[in-house]
Amino acid sequence: MTPPKSFRDVTKVTTHVLQEMKIKGEKIAMLTAYDYSFARILDSTGIDVILVGDSASNVMAGHTSTLPITLNEMIYHGSSVVRAVKRALVVVDLPFGTYQGNSKEALNSAIRIMKEAGADAVKLEGGREILESVDRILSAGIPVMGHLGLTPQSIHKFGTYVVRATSEEEASKLLEDAHLLEKAGCFAIVLEKIPARLGGIVTSALKIPIIGIGAGKEVDGQVLVLHDMLGITLEFSPRFLRRYHNLSEEIRGAVNTYIDDVKTLDFPNEKEQY
Ligand code: KIV
Repeated sequence: MTPPKSFRDVTKVTTHVLQEMKIKGEKIAMLTAYDYSFARILDSTGIDVILVGDSASNVMAGHTSTLPITLNEMIYHGSSVVRAVKRALVVVDLPFGTYQGNSKEALNSAIRIMKEAGADAVKLEGGREILESVDRILSAGIPVMGHLGLTPQSIHKFGTYVVRATSEEEASKLLEDAHLLEKAGCFAIVLEKIPARLGGIVTSALKIPIIGIGAGKEVDGQVLVLHDMLGITLEFSPRFLRRYHNLSEEIRGAVNTYIDDVKTLDFPNEKEQY
């Protein structure tokens, strides 16, 4: 069998493909999606990984944190995305309160995500504290992506969204947690809002792919929240966010034109009626 010319030619991205990408030095591009229509557009672009993030709690439901979203709601978003995607690896977040305290509950939650949403993998926030849950999920054959640094599900413990792991002590705990997750068998780790230097250190210390969001460029890939990078949500402006579009402006423009057309009887015209 001849190998694909570039990873863009692979017909289905798997955890093994991501590992190969790290080895070959090809960066991994990951974005969030929460519904069928956006997921379909993303998958047609050649995006490597689609994350059904619990940021759906903010972006789709308007909550001020990721904590309120439920497992049933994540399954709804996950299954909508999975129905649209042929190529990208689809990772679904386990929501707050479904895996932290009890590894049996964690496994049940992960099984529901795999069975009912049809995900390729699950993502959990945390290091040593959740290792038992990670082990149990992995032992059932479910691929796990870790998430360290700024972990939004613990916002009430930290009280702020400032950059994490700026002290020596916090940085070495993060590195230790990353090693623990790799040893347990996680296939990749997301690092959120940490110093770029630390992002580089973790990336060269670990064999599995490291995907950053505000973790600098020395990582193996990048992830952003789709609605933030498209400029649909405008309230959230951390330094790491690059806005690739101002879609809210375009949508407002189109809707205003529609309103004018309706009010001035320009819409519908002769060709737009039966
Ligand atoms: O929920 C989410 O969107 C995430 C990303 C920020 C990595 O976890």
